Amino acid sequence: MRALVFHGPGSIAVHDRPDPEPGPGEVLLRITATGICGSDVHGYTGENGRRHPDQVMGHETVAVVAGGDLAGTGLAVGDVVTVNPVLGCLACPACDAGEEQTCPDRRVIGVDPAISSAFADLMVVRARNVVPLAAGIAEERGALVEPLAVGYHAARRGGCGPRDAVLVLGGGPIGQACVLAAHRLGAERVVVSEPHPKRAALVASLGAEVLDPAEVVAGSAAALGAAPTLVLDAVGSSATVRDACAASARGARIVLVGMNEQELTVPAYAISTAERQLIGAFCYSREEFASTARWVAEADDRVDRLIDGRVPWDGAAAAFADLASGASDASKILIRPAR
Ligand SMILES: NC(=O)c1ccc[n+]([C@@H]2O[C@H](COP(=O)([O-])OP(=O)(O)OC[C@H]3O[C@@H](n4cnc5c(N)ncnc54)[C@H](O)[C@@H]3O)[C@@H](O)[C@H]2O)c1
Ligand SMILES: [Zn+2]
Ligand SMILES: [Zn+2]
Repeated sequence: MRALVFHGPGSIAVHDRPDPEPGPGEVLLRITATGICGSDVHGYTGENGRRHPDQVMGHETVAVVAGGDLAGTGLAVGDVVTVNPVLGCLACPACDAGEEQTCPDRRVIGVDPAISSAFADLMVVRARNVVPLAAGIAEERGALVEPLAVGYHAARRGGCGPRDAVLVLGGGPIGQACVLAAHRLGAERVVVSEPHPKRAALVASLGAEVLDPAEVVAGSAAALGAAPTLVLDAVGSSATVRDACAASARGARIVLVGMNEQELTVPAYAISTAERQLIGAFCYSREEFASTARWVAEADDRVDRLIDGRVPWDGAAAAFADLASGASDASKILIRPAR
């Protein structure tokens, strides 16, 4: 098979690799499309140290079942599926609760170099992480389930509901997923802070008003009709946490889903004296991923706007280089192995 192999900072290329062999309890998948995640690009540049030379990345995928240990799984060859990339240990309290994202021994497909991953023609994955998609679904939507589930979990962590006035900080793929999740959970009033004009236009097409970050503190209450009661920070920097505190109502919930900075300076008195809550969010629970896979099949065509480009194998390395250098300002790009 062909696979996109990361050699080290700034270097990635398509190579022939042995076909993966499904073991007991594993399913063989033929990949249809896999999204490039910001974390893949930061791994490619070497910035986040979370990717390793000679590894194959890829964790936002849609695929077709091609074989493996299918007995008792309910899966059949030819089924269109996505993959929950969070592999819990299945033996701890977090895994028992379906919260594999907080399992201390979790491994993540596309991050752990030892695990078969999705920038490849074929991958193997344990059957319980294969999530079927509704028959007739627009296939590429399957590759959006993972980032959409990140936004859904963030909104749920913040207790998002119809009465909330929601501010989303950052209009990248995760911010876009947060907008759709807030709508999905019944919040009609959503405003987004995003400086980049092309990203702002994409976010506006999802039905949210967009403000420049310089306007967000003064402008979000006017845009929403009330100060935000829920902030979804899809950047995760000291600047955005400061904006979240300065713009939001007393008692607001601020969800930190963005991970741009490892250490933050937080305006402590704005949290203590106005009793705001700062809430962490990482990935999604097993059920949130599965329910997002069901939801995406029925969602309106706004979800399709999240896909900002497609490349075949011979465009994959250039897509990484252009995203990393800033030569491309595309949002979500899918790599589509040609048949
Ligand atoms: N917690 C999780 O489980 C999880 C999962 C996936 C991604 N992430 C993290 O979420 C973050 C967002 O991911 P993404 O793929 O959307 O990234 P991205 O870099 O594509 O998008 C970030 C957006 O924020 C905008 N931005 C930058 N500074 C801003 C500011 N001060 N105010 C408002 N907007 C600003 C940028 O213009 C950009 O459009 C990243 O840090 C990523 O690592 C976290
Ligand atoms: Zn991702
Ligand atoms: Zn566990």
